[in-house]
Amino acid sequence: MIGRMRVNLRSAFFLLVLCTFLVCFAFWTRCTRDIKEGPSREGLVSSKSDFDGNLRFVNRGAQAYVQDFQVNQYREIECLINHEYTVPCRREDDEVYMPFSFIQKYFEVYGSIENMDGYDRFEFSHSFSKVFPPSDTYSPDGKFMSFEHYNVEVRDRVKCITATEGVPLSTQWNPEGHYYPIQIAQFALSHYSKYLSEGKPDVDILAHGSKEDVVDWSVPDDCEIRSVRDKIRGSNVLELSSPDSIRSQGISLKVTEDANFAFAVDLRFITNGSISVAVKLDDSTFHIHYIFSKVLISSEGKDIYYGMGETRGKWIHLARDLDKDFMKGLMQKFPKSKKTVKMNNIKILSITIRGRGWVDNITLASANHMDHFYDAANWLVNHQDTSSGGWPIMVARKLIPDIMELPPGWYSAMGQGQAMSVLVRAYLKSKNPRYLKAAVDGLRVFDVSSAQGGVKARFANTYDWYEEYPTTPSSFVLNGFIYSLLGLYDLKQVAEGTALTDVERIYNSGMKTLKALLLLFDSGTGTFYDLRHVILGIAPNRARWDYHTTHINQLLQLSIIDSDPIFTKTAARWMDYMKGKRAPHN
Ligand SMILES: *[C@@H]1O[C@H](CO)[C@@H](O)[C@H](O)[C@H]1NC(C)=O
Ligand SMILES: *[C@@H]1O[C@H](CO)[C@@H](O)[C@H](O)[C@H]1NC(C)=O
Repeated sequence: MIGRMRVNLRSAFFLLVLCTFLVCFAFWTRCTRDIKEGPSREGLVSSKSDFDGNLRFVNRGAQAYVQDFQVNQYREIECLINHEYTVPCRREDDEVYMPFSFIQKYFEVYGSIENMDGYDRFEFSHSFSKVFPPSDTYSPDGKFMSFEHYNVEVRDRVKCITATEGVPLSTQWNPEGHYYPIQIAQFALSHYSKYLSEGKPDVDILAHGSKEDVVDWSVPDDCEIRSVRDKIRGSNVLELSSPDSIRSQGISLKVTEDANFAFAVDLRFITNGSISVAVKLDDSTFHIHYIFSKVLISSEGKDIYYGMGETRGKWIHLARDLDKDFMKGLMQKFPKSKKTVKMNNIKILSITIRGRGWVDNITLASANHMDHFYDAANWLVNHQDTSSGGWPIMVARKLIPDIMELPPGWYSAMGQGQAMSVLVRAYLKSKNPRYLKAAVDGLRVFDVSSAQGGVKARFANTYDWYEEYPTTPSSFVLNGFIYSLLGLYDLKQVAEGTALTDVERIYNSGMKTLKALLLLFDSGTGTFYDLRHVILGIAPNRARWDYHTTHINQLLQLSIIDSDPIFTKTAARWMDYMKGKRAPHN
């Protein structure tokens, strides 16, 4: 029986003990009671006196459990694993139960005891991540795949959303922090997709520059606030004057907000001012200060600082998610706070302005998705290398140390492609041609080989491949390649003239490669992340379940834009792998 289990995972499942050793005695006892005394689920979970006044059951110690256990014919049996080591198991007649803690490690499967409608049950899964099928239609100004489910900024490897640029600062591969174009593009695409799926946000306007707004503010003696006409913007704004120092009282507005944390303001300062938000968590009050400084984020006691750069004298549109800013601020001091602080316990108490300048359009809303989207699209326009059209990645990447390494300044086909998906959407929404131009310029890197600082690899000297990590030798990372193709597809829908000719050529040649090589990534039980095993003759790099799921989500998206059955058929088989089904064997 044990021998058979090695071969067949599903039969193993029927053998397994549905709990870890710690809880299994109690669990078994309750199961057998359930069978003997009739199907009383309520009885199983309700309090101790429920077993027909059977106090023996309630009060007995471990000894009694062991007795019950033996009465029910569960006996210990040693399981010899592959003739190598043993695991203590249980036997009931011909059935053998192995501890789930063993099964879990041995088969890389998942399970936990969950409470469902008042009774415990054991939930077993072959894999853990979730496939999000895309919508039935695709358009280059629509949602991007199912990115509305992404929350890029809450990831641990995002240090903060900077107030200078409004985009994530990544600590991946470099704890100092760097701007990672792929992360920035994903931040944009997730907010864009959220905007489309959530619809227009709830917006509470706290001040929009009119005379009536002035009365709501509390103004100490040394400060002033009034409504004036702004010549640059052609609208009424609030003019403020107060001492600069963060220690001064400042001009403030009381608010009570415990749900809508998306804050936005238009501001223009001529002294070293700041705008601060008081945030209450449980019984403590913290302050988030947006200041004119190049230091991106810092925290001191209960004060969290975000630098907006040093551009005074100009109008700035600042859009912040206060709950996320607060969380990232706490994590500066207490790296584990994300797991312990419940963000739904926070409240916004007030907004305080210090310094001399003007403000307008102060709002708290359910979301600022489009502000974040445009911040990221603008970042891409402003940080593109104009000579190459690439978005350089300024950290070293060691895919395989000493063998597949990239020094800082590399380009990624995935970065180029995801940037295109952002820029095409920004262009279609805003009609501003500078977004389209940046997307078209981003194409050039696709024609330059990895060895020459571009992203183009060749497989078997026949097929063009666009590299997420353009190492030499090539690595052929599947998900990054597909993301690059989706970006090229988006651009192909809007490009004209020679840009259209170029993008069609690059896209078509990539799709031809994908169809020819896709099944090299199919292991029969899962997928491979890259082709290092083929290229270097080393062990394959199996895609972990979330990457496997990404592969599936990508194929489902491709099946909407390309009718070749390879995409639907392969996606269906790869979804089966997630439930433990395998490709047939000989
Ligand atoms: C502006 O004020 C902030 C906060 O008080 C401070 O950190 C920063 O150094 C000041 N900058 C200048 C140029 O004085
Ligand atoms: C405030 O918002 C309105 C409407 O979007 C806009 O026209 C105005 O220019 C904004 N004010 C400033 C100072 O940017």
